[in-house]
Amino acid sequence: MPQATILVLGSINTDLVVRGTRLPAPGETIVGGTFFRAAGGKGANQAVAAARAGAVSVSLIAAVGDDDLGRESLAGLHTEGIGCDLVKRIQGEPSGVALIMVDQAGQNCISVASGANLHLTPADIDAIDDSRFEQSAVLLACLEAPVHTVIRGLQRARQMGLTTILNPAPADPQIASPDVLKYVDIITPNETEAALLTGQAVQEPAQAIAAGKRLTQLGCRHAIVTMGARGCVVVNDQVRQVDALPVQAVDTTAAGDAFNGTLALALAEGKDLMTSVGWAVSAAAISVTRPGAQPSLPRRDEIDKAFRRPDT
Ligand code: RIB
Repeated sequence: MPQATILVLGSINTDLVVRGTRLPAPGETIVGGTFFRAAGGKGANQAVAAARAGAVSVSLIAAVGDDDLGRESLAGLHTEGIGCDLVKRIQGEPSGVALIMVDQAGQNCISVASGANLHLTPADIDAIDDSRFEQSAVLLACLEAPVHTVIRGLQRARQMGLTTILNPAPADPQIASPDVLKYVDIITPNETEAALLTGQAVQEPAQAIAAGKRLTQLGCRHAIVTMGARGCVVVNDQVRQVDALPVQAVDTTAAGDAFNGTLALALAEGKDLMTSVGWAVSAAAISVTRPGAQPSLPRRDEIDKAFRRPDT
């Protein structure tokens, strides 16, 4: 098995979470919830997901403020074995914070104050030594880092021969263009993101397949549209639907991050695409059975146990 070495380009946040019976409507106050704080940020979550799933080396390209939250986030990432030497410290900017509300069914809504995350620049990507790309098999990026920085990362990774995965979360229609998607091997939107990127409704699997086809026409090699409890569709020169594992959802926060980090790990290990998707679906299913972002991410033995090879 090849040694899985992965670069993750994205965000680092601290999540402030209230779990309540339901999500409030605009202008409404609901009392009776419980509070916890957890490590989060889509980039950091994806890096941790890959590391727990078995990556030999994961380095995170991101930015934090020079504050207590940033220092705590970095300490947590070090404990997970994530390489943080490519994480920039920004003086005078707060580290990223996400306010998250979760209801009884595990659904959430999230508001992010990006802070230092917005200060990662294309020049920071240019400053990374070629050797870091040469030593890596996969670059996984999300859009909680500035879009032009992400595009530069994808471009450099592609030039250096890495497999590139773009998790377009949160969706930015700027990336739905051949000028960007030509650098992307695999794009992984959820239904909402796929709809925003394609301008098409995406509620049913058939619509997810149509959106996936549109994204591949725009230049990426594979589109994987994730649909929560309904699994995902994989669109390339074929179309395949993969069921989710049946679980009782407690908190869906970071299910997408579990999916993407594990997908990156499996591909970096040399697994074929559909086996890798099976791994990713299994990791996402486990993550929704537990509260929090990083606290919910599974370890390799758990994924191994839950793994079911998708029908192909
Ligand atoms: O994907 C979940 C993540 O989104 C949370 O950890 C939060 O920080 C936001 O970035």
